[in-house]
Amino acid sequence: MKFEKHIICIGAGYVGGPTMAMIAYKCPRYKVTVVDTNHERIARWNSDELPIYEPGLDEIIAATRGKNLFFSTDIERGIKEAKIIFVSVNTPTKTFGTGSGMAPDLQFWEKTARQIRDNAESDKIIVEKSTFPVRTAFAMERILSATKTGVHFDIVSNPEFLAEGTAIADLETPDRVLVGSHETPGGLRARDEMVEIFLNWVPREKILTTNIWSSELSKLVANAFLAQRISSINSFTELCEKTEADITEVARAVGLDHRIGGTYLNAGIGFGGSCFKKDILSLVYLCRHYGLDEVADYWEGVVKINEYQKERFVLGILNAMFDTLAGKRICLFGFAFKANTGDTRESPAIYITKRLCEERAELVITDPRALQNAEKDLEDIKGTVIYKNDPYDAAVSCDAVAVLTEWSLYRELDYKKIYRVMNKPAFIFDGRNILNHEKLFAIGFNVYPVGKPPMKHF
Ligand code: UDX
Ligand code: UDX
Repeated sequence: MKFEKHIICIGAGYVGGPTMAMIAYKCPRYKVTVVDTNHERIARWNSDELPIYEPGLDEIIAATRGKNLFFSTDIERGIKEAKIIFVSVNTPTKTFGTGSGMAPDLQFWEKTARQIRDNAESDKIIVEKSTFPVRTAFAMERILSATKTGVHFDIVSNPEFLAEGTAIADLETPDRVLVGSHETPGGLRARDEMVEIFLNWVPREKILTTNIWSSELSKLVANAFLAQRISSINSFTELCEKTEADITEVARAVGLDHRIGGTYLNAGIGFGGSCFKKDILSLVYLCRHYGLDEVADYWEGVVKINEYQKERFVLGILNAMFDTLAGKRICLFGFAFKANTGDTRESPAIYITKRLCEERAELVITDPRALQNAEKDLEDIKGTVIYKNDPYDAAVSCDAVAVLTEWSLYRELDYKKIYRVMNKPAFIFDGRNILNHEKLFAIGFNVYPVGKPPMKHF
């Protein structure tokens, strides 16, 4: 079959994989190839056991793989073949040198840009899919244009707004698709070509075109706003606990104002995930670079409240359990950074587990999808943590259960059965406020939600 367009994506991760699968699914006339340096990852994309868990992804892969969707490690061939190259490699926070702990580490995208430059034999459109600091395209252009081959590159920014766990629905019916380009004839042509791809399934009015710098910045700002709402609501949980106000009632009362809206107001143990913290720190670093210290301080506060919330949860457990956790068995319900994913990157559970371990608690972790990743994250405290697939098994002989991920299965468990197998007094710390607290209290548990008065039998 002769394909209308050849697209590749460099980086077969949580973003690259599902995004390209959706393009292939919606555009059977395009050939889409996802390439990655990681051989094991590509092998898993080509197997029945995909490297990431995402509801609905298996079906889309089954419908497209081998037809117009391909996974490969042959990056050089992919670059030669494709007209459009998405770059979705990771940009983690730097762990060394200048900007360590703040700035994004751009070594992978720079390496990728050089790889594209050195292998391209015809003109290409380069699509920034990963989240980059503003003006990354400028640096990328410098690298790409340092060639004598006469090959021309147009760069567009097309940030991805999908959230894990709902990636397929987010890709299928996005609130908006953003395409940023230069306002040069080449830039506008590249922009139109991108719009053409999305028009295969996204209504025109939802496709937003902007200049390239606005597009790069919008992604950082969107993540900062979302994270800020979570830190804002979490910042009031302590006040609720002190004043007998209830954060769920407050969030509802506030969120019903249509100017505020009700989403991203679930209080809990703080946000996790690979993006929020990294992107805010990147924004803070960028602001400081431009000498905007007040702005940087403002956004840094969002991350600080988030760190505080995690520590506060640990101290709450310690305090409730008579100021000592040594030798007590605590069962963690959930380790993923949110429900419906196996991803544990920046999960609050990592910090909480390590702190509880420092307090010498014995830990049992259960999660329907994330135990493999949990074991990797907790490599340095190997041997001190027990992993159990079954939550009922996990709770046996525990002094406390702490809910760290809002998996709906935890709402549906038989807590009478769990109470029977636990040590007494039995505690429940509902870090996500998802359980029926009155019912648990009636069973006999001492119940500690977040941002609500605790319910105790003593
Ligand atoms: C990525 C970026 O990390 C993030 O900045 C952006 O917001 C969304 O895209 P994600 O897909 O979750 O996020 O990252 P990850 O799952 O780590 O996937 C990146 C992939 O790129 C990995 O499979 C890695 O092997 C691959 N990679 C990395 C390359 O193929 N080449 C490289 O040089 C570096
Ligand atoms: C986020 C953005 O939503 C997405 O647009 C962007 O592309 C990547 O970053 P993601 O991190 O996958 O997506 O998940 P999200 O649903 O936003 O949740 C992030 C974290 O916030 C999770 O730990 C979640 O549990 C937490 N959260 C979310 C809350 O604590 N309260 C809420 O009300 C909402």
